[in-house]
Amino acid sequence: IIHWYSFQMRMLWVTLLSTIPCFEPCYCEVKEGIFHVHCDSKGFTNVSQISQIWSRPFKLNLQRNSMRKLYFNSFLHLNNAISINLGNNALQDIHAGAFNGLGILKRLFLHENKLEVFRNDTFLGLDSLEYLQADYNVIKRIESGAFRHLHKLRLVFLNDNLLRSLPTDAFAGTNLARLNLRNNYFLSMPVRGVLEHLHSIVQIDLHQNPWECSCDIIPLKQWLEKLSSVIVVGDVLCKTPEFAFGKDLRSLEVEVICPELKYSSGPSPALPGGDDLTTGSSDMGEGQSFSFLSFLDFPKKNRLFCLVVVGHNICYTVLLVLVGCNLELKENARSSQVNAAGFEVDDMRGM
Ligand SMILES: *[C@@H]1O[C@H](CO)[C@@H](O)[C@H](O)[C@H]1NC(C)=O
Ligand SMILES: *[C@@H]1O[C@H](CO)[C@@H](O)[C@H](O)[C@H]1NC(C)=O
Repeated sequence: IIHWYSFQMRMLWVTLLSTIPCFEPCYCEVKEGIFHVHCDSKGFTNVSQISQIWSRPFKLNLQRNSMRKLYFNSFLHLNNAISINLGNNALQDIHAGAFNGLGILKRLFLHENKLEVFRNDTFLGLDSLEYLQADYNVIKRIESGAFRHLHKLRLVFLNDNLLRSLPTDAFAGTNLARLNLRNNYFLSMPVRGVLEHLHSIVQIDLHQNPWECSCDIIPLKQWLEKLSSVIVVGDVLCKTPEFAFGKDLRSLEVEVICPELKYSSGPSPALPGGDDLTTGSSDMGEGQSFSFLSFLDFPKKNRLFCLVVVGHNICYTVLLVLVGCNLELKENARSSQVNAAGFEVDDMRGM
């Protein structure tokens, strides 16, 4: 009886499956309770050729076809897709609004195509997107608002592309857990405006980039050092300058990477993007001794003053002067923080 029953169940299942329309020349199956549409390697050149409408959630596999462009509203009729795989096509361009209507799509695969740019309007409509795989393209540019509306985005693969930089606020509004930037052309990467938005990162891959281990990279170094080592996948090896070649950024001393930060330098040292450095030193406690980095947090004219004074004194007075500078600088720091917080400086005078 049990055998007969399970046979009946199987027949019922087969009948159900065959009543779900598939689409020639694709084939369809239910796997782990999810409806899959397999249209890989069928020579499709345009999404409009997939003219079927599926009224239940489904995964659409369009790998290894010959699509070059995704047009405005291409996917409107495929609005129940929860995953679309467009890997290994010949995609060069995604028109604005191409993904309109895909409001429940969670996963989008665009790997191994010829995409060059992600524009502000490239991913419009993908309000539920959690996973974006775009490795092995030729992406050179990402506009600052490209990911902004993707509030659910958790995982982004951008490895093996041609990126040299990421725009300010690239990840603002997202809550990324994993980010792969391996094998691009990054020389450095700012903390302020870029890495600072990765509040929830659990895995980041920066391997195989030509990191230039000079002053500009110090905020990145400090940011990495604050992360647990399991978060940073692989090495972050310096390509230049020569003395640092092949060394891990985290293993080098700040003063070695950026000797300009030494006191002995001339009256107008080449201070690197000082703004970026402030982020890296934000957790410096009151009790800690004056460091080169907190030094960069302060207004330029004070730095200059200190340097000139230090430069004209011999060793035994240096310490005294530093203590003096430090006090004055702390005063300044307080008032600039007040400004940054948008308060009137006057309000703080009584404190
Ligand atoms: C591809 O489909 C779009 C509509 O989504 C249509 O406007 C376009 O002409 C089609 N292109 C080709 C080459 O068939
Ligand atoms: C993209 O969007 C951001 C803000 O969301 C804006 O600042 C930027 O100018 C936009 N870029 C272009 C090219 O429209």
